Amino acid sequence: MANGFFSEEKLAEIRDRSSILEIVSDYVTLKKTGKNHRGLCPFHSEKTPSFMVNEEKQIFHCFGCGEGGDVFAFLMKAGNFTFPQAAEELARRYGVKLPSQDLSPSQKKEMAERETLFQINEIASNYFYDLLMRRGEGEEGRTYLAQRGISEEVISAHRVGYSTDRWDGLVRHLQEKKVSLELAAKLGLIFPKKRGEDSTQREGRRAGPAGWYDAFRGRILFPIFDVHQRIVGFGGRVIRQGQPKYLNSPESSLYHKGEILYGLHVAKRSIPEKDCVILVEGYFDLLTLHQYGLKHSVATSGTALTVQHVHTLKRYTKNIITVFDADPAGIQATLRSLPLFIEEGITGRTIALPEGEDPDGYLRKRGLEDFEKKIAGSVSLMDFFFDALMRRHDVKSIDGRISAAEEGAALVGKISDQIRRDFYLKALAERLDLQESSVREMLRSSSHPPRKGQVDLRQRLVDKDFPKSEQMVVRIMAHRPELVPVVSEERILREFESPILQKLGEELVALYQKKGKLDVAQILGSLEGDLQRRLREFLFQSDGLEGGLHEEILKDCIDKIRGSRLKKDEKELLRRIQESEERRGGEGLEALLTERQKLARREKGSWKGGLRKG
Ligand code: GTP
Ligand code: MN
Repeated sequence: MANGFFSEEKLAEIRDRSSILEIVSDYVTLKKTGKNHRGLCPFHSEKTPSFMVNEEKQIFHCFGCGEGGDVFAFLMKAGNFTFPQAAEELARRYGVKLPSQDLSPSQKKEMAERETLFQINEIASNYFYDLLMRRGEGEEGRTYLAQRGISEEVISAHRVGYSTDRWDGLVRHLQEKKVSLELAAKLGLIFPKKRGEDSTQREGRRAGPAGWYDAFRGRILFPIFDVHQRIVGFGGRVIRQGQPKYLNSPESSLYHKGEILYGLHVAKRSIPEKDCVILVEGYFDLLTLHQYGLKHSVATSGTALTVQHVHTLKRYTKNIITVFDADPAGIQATLRSLPLFIEEGITGRTIALPEGEDPDGYLRKRGLEDFEKKIAGSVSLMDFFFDALMRRHDVKSIDGRISAAEEGAALVGKISDQIRRDFYLKALAERLDLQESSVREMLRSSSHPPRKGQVDLRQRLVDKDFPKSEQMVVRIMAHRPELVPVVSEERILREFESPILQKLGEELVALYQKKGKLDVAQILGSLEGDLQRRLREFLFQSDGLEGGLHEEILKDCIDKIRGSRLKKDEKELLRRIQESEERRGGEGLEALLTERQKLARREKGSWKGGLRKG
């Protein structure tokens, strides 16, 4: 793990104070199963949860894809934090003081800036919210939202705000709060005036302090939160006429449009309960859905749906229903989302609203019950795609049907799950009234992605190579570090057949001898790739170790390993003796026979006599 910015003690303190369960739960819905918590892995596609969190050991591990590690590793992978950012974030959240000398100057600067940027967004949001809810100047905003039927409850849950037409309202407020205007500009909250605009006082524009002006004027403001409840950016809708209708914060070090989903910070509490999420495209659509109690809804904002969005949502539920506008753009967006769902290995669904409607308008016109009926009758995106395919190609002609089949097969071929692939292949053939075998042929000629599930197969092959007793010894070492000395005294590791397990065991012995204990979460960081992964697997497998007989089990295993090693050595020796007799006229035979004698002694001494006592 990349560090060097923080002392080992500091990292251990942060790790100890952090709750990996809390952090992971920001991203993944977990259920308690025995000692562990289980959920769908955020790092690969899966249908049955193989992602485990162990609270006691403060580690996570996915049995499907092999990702895992401690709380730092999780934040780095799931939240795209750098190591220092992850440490900083955890320290902040769990109240661990970071001595400043632990950071390089550039690290310090970067972290301080990130923190400040969040604070500036917070200050701006409070300013907009206060204007809307408590100031006389907010009247127009209040009226607008009331007209659109947004309740105060929804306004406050989403911290919706308002900005007046003033050019310097926020600029002045930020100045009062002693905020760096340069940083506020990085967030797109304010803009620098162009040269020459400083002194000229244009109509309606009073010169703001220091040559800056507000980016959002005369708009309803939607703060965009990340899953940690921090504001990363804003969307703003004009309240009267004007262009652009929506203004969004630019991409920044905080705001990545392709990853963030508007409303998720609220929705993430409802999605697991419903095991479903409704995905819309507009801020107002989102607010209206929440207003009607459909709080398991989120919206894209500032960009079309991306595969990261789908990936993010998949952590919470596999049932995603898109509800886009019923206009050509909305239909295009729906169709474009299908490959993203396929890539993530899930079946997206959608509903078609009457032409010209959007979710907001439809709900208000037709009511909740009607909308819920629509949702219940959602169709798979694949069916939606087939419908569009039939419309786009001239399916009355054979040529039209073939080209439709080709286009369809290219997409169906991307589905990694064979059952679903076959299902849709058949459906496509039926709809086009073509032989299933011909469509299958087209599918074959279009290229295949690597199949998911191969991981599992590889996993099984690897497992076979690890002798059971050797696995058990390492597992016992990991679960019961106080037995590590027994293992090293018995010198059993050098008799291991598996080099990986041997290396892992040696690492554990070395660490134990160095520290006098085994802090597993810390050890993970010091191990490389395969070893780390193996150890994590062992840490999560406590089957067979529930009873208190670890020492007895350990001794049994040591006996077995010694026995099988002996047998192997014996066999090898016999083979060499035979070879020497048959092919080399007895050359080297004497030495081999001496060796054999030694082996026999070894057998008497330890194998037959069992473990040395003491
Ligand atoms: P209302 O018209 O107020 O109901 O808002 P809406 O959310 O329904 O808007 P619309 O359906 O026109 O657009 C859907 C989403 O696309 C919006 O919520 C914005 O995220 C985005 N969008 C729409 N117009 C613009 C624009 O002019 N600029 C940018 N950057 N985004 C826009
Ligand atoms: Mn709308």
